[in-house]
Amino acid sequence: MRYFVFNTPEGVAEAASMVFASTLYQKPDAVFGLATGSTPVDTYRRLIALNARGLINFGRARSFNLDEYAGLAPDHPCSYRRFMDDHLFDHINIDKALTFVPSGIGDLEQNAAEYDQIIERAGGIDLQLLGIGHNGHIGFNEPDERAFAYRASVVGLTDSTIEANARFFANRDEVPRRAITLGLGGILCARRVLLLATGAGKARAVAGAIRGPVTPMNPASILQLHGDVQCLLDREAAALL
Ligand code: PGA
Repeated sequence: MRYFVFNTPEGVAEAASMVFASTLYQKPDAVFGLATGSTPVDTYRRLIALNARGLINFGRARSFNLDEYAGLAPDHPCSYRRFMDDHLFDHINIDKALTFVPSGIGDLEQNAAEYDQIIERAGGIDLQLLGIGHNGHIGFNEPDERAFAYRASVVGLTDSTIEANARFFANRDEVPRRAITLGLGGILCARRVLLLATGAGKARAVAGAIRGPVTPMNPASILQLHGDVQCLLDREAAALL
């Protein structure tokens, strides 16, 4: 896995936005895999600015998000659909009908099975953006002692993820305990992967993912099996490499 270390989180976001821009120049109808969480927010801000200046055009792009909380309707203030609308889609010229976030309501098992198929029918993901959890999760693929989760599925969230995400909710009890997530197989099928990590809290997960054994205890370590992964890290996140 290739990694690049920047002095600041801003450097990470700047570089990530350049990768998006170059992807769009090469393929105006690119399919993006997108992530929520705090890490990509600055990258999205920069994409909005580039789009506003007319330097990049999302008019033909499509996107698929990694995950959604179980039980949260798209218009719930804490849903990931809402997060993406607020932080990116409402501010760029992407066709909202071509932005997909897994549905957290209805028959979740069926939603998960269909999500893999919709992505496949779209021709697959050209550029998959990822954050990484403190425990090495990507999407909501949490550490597991036995196996990597290959397909999109409904998963339980670990205590550490519930704790980490409580900051987006009024209190910890409101954080849903389950989510629907693209599987690791779906992520590995992306033609190119861009993983962003900033801050000291991510250093252990990052070091395990890049240098450690490929193990379901650190789900991001499976990216070692992918031929085109770039990790953009700030100095703190790279501290244990
Ligand atoms: P964060 O989340 O960007 O808010 O740290 C990353 C993740 O949990 O994948």
